[in-house]
Amino acid sequence: MRTLVSQRSDRFTESVIREMTRLCNQHGGVNLAQGFPDFPAPEAIKEEAARAIRADVNQYAITWGARRLRDAVVAKTERFTGLSYDPETEVTVCCGSTECMIATLLALVNPGEEVIVFEPFYENYGPDAILCGAVPRFVRLREPDWSYDPAELERAFSDRTKAIIVNTPNNPTGKVFTRAELDHIAALCRKWDVVAVTDEIYEHMIYDGAEHVSLAALDGMRGRTVTISGISKTYSVTGWRVGYCLADPALSGAIRKVHDFLTVGAPAPLQEAAATALALPDEYYRTLADGYRARRDFLLPALEAAGFRTFKPRGAYYVMTDISGFGFADDVAFARHLVAEGGVAAVPGSSFYSDPAAGRQRLRFHFARRRETLEAAVERLGGLKARAPIV
Ligand SMILES: Cc1ncc(COP(=O)(O)O)c(C=O)c1O
Repeated sequence: MRTLVSQRSDRFTESVIREMTRLCNQHGGVNLAQGFPDFPAPEAIKEEAARAIRADVNQYAITWGARRLRDAVVAKTERFTGLSYDPETEVTVCCGSTECMIATLLALVNPGEEVIVFEPFYENYGPDAILCGAVPRFVRLREPDWSYDPAELERAFSDRTKAIIVNTPNNPTGKVFTRAELDHIAALCRKWDVVAVTDEIYEHMIYDGAEHVSLAALDGMRGRTVTISGISKTYSVTGWRVGYCLADPALSGAIRKVHDFLTVGAPAPLQEAAATALALPDEYYRTLADGYRARRDFLLPALEAAGFRTFKPRGAYYVMTDISGFGFADDVAFARHLVAEGGVAAVPGSSFYSDPAAGRQRLRFHFARRRETLEAAVERLGGLKARAPIV
């Protein structure tokens, strides 16, 4: 019988993270799996969203984004990176940075061309590569600091390489790529004539004096970098679906065409509210980072006390842990045990690796939660080790 679904859609599975969220709801657990905040978004931006709807900003915005938002993206980018972009030709607003990434890869990569991806990686990049026919080349980030082996990265570049995806600060590891690492990546991009696609969605969650460096700001990189970010994480509005890409006019032109036919545009009233968000003062970003650092500093010692080994993140709001102390052979079985017996949901490490075996003793937690929620999770984790079956 004819197969009704495409081979393409058959080559990847449903998101493991969303499966964990479902299990968590079934067990009434505390969800430290899917990374979204359980605290309110800033009042001023909610007000602006409501105002825009009441003012009837309810029809399609210009496909590549409302002018007010593109101006705000340009102003904020200049404020934090010193880079200037033309809102008319170099900014594209999409439905979240998720759409930015797939639109960019569809616009730039031909079937069969290679895209370098650091692993462990944010789980969307695998299906993104498959959907545009790209061949992913994985380069390993190694514990405890998640640095990469420079020789391994150099071997990954070739005439077949079209793009490299760099996610800093990184999900799932919390790694913040150093300036020296980014200089090395930039040199390889220039040498092999490769485009860098950066995912900087956690750019404002940086701890312990680490520095967020935009690859586009390095020598010779502005013209060959697509910088992707969005409002989901920085302003605690993951459901609004507003993200943006910055790239020179030739790259932006191709991205805009793909974006137009994928989704036409991001929600118009929420683009108005996003413009208000991007103009928040520097103090907002400092308070945001301080709040996340405090959550990290509460959760990590508690995870250690419960029997996890933790790899301290310097950015983003995730922590990768080593579960080998619990005696489980399999991370998925452990994650199911944790949610059913412990009432806490986390994400099996194998979902972040091309070779699942590499993540069999890893589990990722996120800490975008109110203090009370984290306290409830920590209380449930107490005694977990004693309840783990000997396997
Ligand atoms: C690295 C990374 N990029 C992108 C996204 C999704 O961002 P958006 O809500 O803007 O689509 C996430 C969400 O978890 C993420 O971790």
